[in-house]
Amino acid sequence: PGAARLSALLLDWYDANARSMPWRVAPAARLSGQRPDPYAVWLSEVMLQQTTVAAVRSYFEAFTARWPTVTDMAGAEDADVMGAWAGLGYYARARNLLKCARVVTDEYDGRFPDTHAELLKLPGIGPYTAAAISAIAFDAPETVVDGNVERVMARLHDIHTPLPTAKPELTAAAAALTPSDRPGDYAQAVMDLGATICTPRNPACGICPWMAFCAARTAGTAAALPAKLPK
Ligand code: ADE
Repeated sequence: PGAARLSALLLDWYDANARSMPWRVAPAARLSGQRPDPYAVWLSEVMLQQTTVAAVRSYFEAFTARWPTVTDMAGAEDADVMGAWAGLGYYARARNLLKCARVVTDEYDGRFPDTHAELLKLPGIGPYTAAAISAIAFDAPETVVDGNVERVMARLHDIHTPLPTAKPELTAAAAALTPSDRPGDYAQAVMDLGATICTPRNPACGICPWMAFCAARTAGTAAALPAKLPK
């Protein structure tokens, strides 16, 4: 099938199976077009960079209860933000978080910019986070590629090139499937598929919305992909 059919199948699956997360919009509101708050998307994506969804949940709730807007965070004492971050690790993320909150507040009037290029200029925001915010918060047709997405693409196309060599190929495959309709939901749908069905071990191919089109499933190679160069 073409890219449009594949993305439509995955979006239908996401509409029925999206994981509930505190930074996401509830399904009914999402279907009526409501986007998540860019501040919530930014905060969650920074927290999720080296930390699991399960660990991030309670930190995200605590941060947004204490600092409901980016401007509230910009006014925080450094020590309060660092203290609230304690336990999440990689403390450079927390220092950049506060720097970024102050730049958005002082130079952008408290509103996150909506393009990948502008987002990239902000402290602590690299290509992954810029793509995630512009897609998820602003529904820009950006391709978001994390480890889940790499695994899903390697299996869908039965790509045996090992990581990290395969990165450009996997990114191109992900970009080719990104729809212009609902790219933000699509980005999260691929991540959810990778986290819940197309898992590293024992993938649940039998309930995958792409089951009929997955080259690795046909070849029997899904569990071995993506291949990785020996460390
Ligand atoms: N991992 C990082 N960001 C995510 C998101 N928005 N949804 C699901 N998993 C993620």
